[in-house]
Amino acid sequence: MERKTFYITTPIFYPNGELHMGHAYTVTLCDIVARYQRLLGKEVHFLTGSDEHTVKVVRAGEKVGKGPKEYIDGILENFRSLYSSIDISYDQFIRTSDKETHWPGAIALWNKLVEAGDIYKKKYAGLYCVGHEAFITEKDLVNGVCPDHGVAPENIEEENYFFKLSKYTDAVRTKIESGELTILPETRKNEILSLLKDGLQDVSFSRPVSKNSWAIPVPNDPEQVMYVWCDALANYITAIGYGRDEKGFNHFWPADYHVIGKDILRFHAAFWPAMLMSAGLPLPKKIMVHGMITSQGKKMSKTLGNVINPLDLLHKYGKDALRFFLAKEVSPFEDGDVTVETFEAAYNSALTNGLGNLTSRIMQMAISYEVTYDAKALGSVQHTILSEKHAAYRASFDSFRLNEAAGYVWKLIAELDAEIQTKEPFKLFKINPDEARVVVKGLVEKLWEISCLLAPILPDSSAKVQLAIVNKVKPTLFPRK
Ligand code: MSP
Repeated sequence: MERKTFYITTPIFYPNGELHMGHAYTVTLCDIVARYQRLLGKEVHFLTGSDEHTVKVVRAGEKVGKGPKEYIDGILENFRSLYSSIDISYDQFIRTSDKETHWPGAIALWNKLVEAGDIYKKKYAGLYCVGHEAFITEKDLVNGVCPDHGVAPENIEEENYFFKLSKYTDAVRTKIESGELTILPETRKNEILSLLKDGLQDVSFSRPVSKNSWAIPVPNDPEQVMYVWCDALANYITAIGYGRDEKGFNHFWPADYHVIGKDILRFHAAFWPAMLMSAGLPLPKKIMVHGMITSQGKKMSKTLGNVINPLDLLHKYGKDALRFFLAKEVSPFEDGDVTVETFEAAYNSALTNGLGNLTSRIMQMAISYEVTYDAKALGSVQHTILSEKHAAYRASFDSFRLNEAAGYVWKLIAELDAEIQTKEPFKLFKINPDEARVVVKGLVEKLWEISCLLAPILPDSSAKVQLAIVNKVKPTLFPRK
């Protein structure tokens, strides 16, 4: 029987600077889901990548005297090193500048939109925000500048190709209302439905080549290049073979989850479904929309200067501390504030004094009381995750409430702690060593169960706990650097 597939994507990141906590958040959430689905036995394809044909990148390169390719190659080294430092198990990293992987599909998709009669040329004048890579209106401005990026938009008058987005207003609404395209949470679904109520406007889908010669040329028009969002959204299908490998494409499409931040909802829940329908392709199944990581109550952004560099936290506390904080302390569907103080507090209570302390106490007793157990009989990670009693854990995963899934595990940690307090095997051992050994064996088994449920969330610590149990040694968890 063919293995069931699970295709999950992150947005592709603008490589115009280093990744911050907000970016680390998106990829960590995806990684936890990807690992969970693999543990269930699915054939997972986890895609991430970089969105390179943006004027922002070209300008950032120019500032340091580099061409876009040279500039981006350097930045991507940082992306990859961050990914590997937090154990991001992606299967593919797509670059929109990749002429073999991405361009054929992006061009094929454009041609489909043309064939559907959905592309037309029009003169247009408007305000363009390079930060958003989108046209914005006067009413979006605060004191003449875009409030998200703190810069004035550019006044643009161009003859571009337009995509007939307006034509798809009703069709997109029907797909969302019927749940064929699920948008979670409900608040974001309602947000997009209210936008659809006003009707979608056609959207400029190309720019003059003079504005961004580095982008993908529009077929049959050397004067125009594709608009960066048209190009970028296509990555979700080009990466797996659209336009070059039909079998590969059909194997994974439609995507199970597109995971995005709430700031790019409109592009994913309106533009993208419309483009897919125009091209006659099935829609993704679910769009999971997470909140923003804030710092001192404000969206973390370079402009505001409140960016926390994940590498600093990684260096001091280690990878699982970062994963833990993002998974458990932030609710995926709301904004979550990160400060060094809250991070430190969570680290101390849940990791050092929580999981770390529990593991070392249990293993200490198992070793010194010479407790015997058969490590092979402890049960696989998959078996544990699938067991009936952990249905609530799986339900949290299914609704993308990863903080609840992590909370479930920490509840078991607290219960196991409490069990040690009530059963007091350290006192019992002095009176009845055999009975104390039976108690500790039970504790080891429960610790093993916890480590299995931790596997998708904190893979490194989960493996360390399991190795400690199998080899009957005291592990070193969460040492501070
Ligand atoms: N390149 C586009 C996405 C194209 S997808 C076809 C883009 N890139 S981005 O680098 O600006 O953002 C990528 C992702 O990071 C988005 O989901 C965005 O929501 C997320 N975040 C950026 N800053 C963030 C926070 N402060 N907090 C949480 N996520 C944030 O948009």
